[in-house]
Amino acid sequence: MTKIGKDLALAKQLLQSGQLVAIPTETVYGLAANGLNPEAVARIFEAKNRPSFNPLILHVADTAHARALTSNFPPKAQLLADTFWPGPLTIVLPRHASVPDIVTGGLETVALRVPAHSLTLELLRSLPFPLAAPSANPSGYISPTQPLHVAEQLNDKVAYILDGGASSVGVESTIVMVKDDEVYLLRQGGISEETLMAVVGHIAHAPDAHNQPLAPGMLLNHYAPGKRVLLGNLSLLYGQHYHERVGVLAFKEPLPEVPLAQQRILSPKGDLAEAAANVFAYLRELDKLDIDLIIAEPVPHNGIGRAVNDRLQRASEK
Ligand code: TXA
Ligand code: MG
Repeated sequence: MTKIGKDLALAKQLLQSGQLVAIPTETVYGLAANGLNPEAVARIFEAKNRPSFNPLILHVADTAHARALTSNFPPKAQLLADTFWPGPLTIVLPRHASVPDIVTGGLETVALRVPAHSLTLELLRSLPFPLAAPSANPSGYISPTQPLHVAEQLNDKVAYILDGGASSVGVESTIVMVKDDEVYLLRQGGISEETLMAVVGHIAHAPDAHNQPLAPGMLLNHYAPGKRVLLGNLSLLYGQHYHERVGVLAFKEPLPEVPLAQQRILSPKGDLAEAAANVFAYLRELDKLDIDLIIAEPVPHNGIGRAVNDRLQRASEK
């Protein structure tokens, strides 16, 4: 199995020679490569089996480095960066000419983020280039929130896994695009809409155009485990599927009819941040059980709960 450890010098050396290293962030683990080296970035797409039109986020150590990768950094972007970086917010801005096409999928914009993880920030500060990094999972599967998740799924496709413990936020970054003076929400994530709104006033929702979504990760059927997932009222779903072996992903309370070993409770105390931190790991655990399907219930639809519901919806059957 791929080596897992905290060796920053090794991670740095591998990245400098164009190899792939899994990096911890507060949201999920990323599969990182030198973001200015098209060949290294191509290895990410290969390892993940990711469609090449789906652009990547560039991770940088601070706002100054982010600015250098854009051709325009408007005041609203500065405000967002000052307020939320380092943190789970990705800002899409007009790209600088130095950003390779393979990173942006040919778009005229680039996605940028300063992650809030001390080990990865130290790595970024030591490197003369940004790190292109999507979530470190095979395309379409559940995102990894622990080093072992990465090892299980990407194994020898990644040269080294930098161990930064379990991701504290647990769902991916919120993605916004800043265009002129308007902020568009492209993906729900670790920073809630309410929190964004309190800072920038108005948020516009991007049209979810079919097949050409503004954030191509918004394609449906993302984050799906191998097993069928049905989302809805747990009692009703159980009533329809009691004759099958059912796994349960509940928000606060288990379903009395199902053995506890086949259930995962996102947050017994009803805390949405805790639910977000657990959702991907629990989906993975349920996926490994000897069951026929997973039934899941939505969490309260506010704050980071919106991002959790978004991921559950994408994991489930339509
Ligand atoms: O929390 C996160 O954002 C994690 C960690 C590793 O930073 N990364 C992550 O990357 O979730 P990924 O590749 O799984 O999702 C990035 C999303 C994709 O949906 C992609 O389409 C979108 O960002 N994206 C990237 N560049 C874009 C651009 N220029 N315009 C619009 N969307 C963009
Ligand atoms: Mg992803």
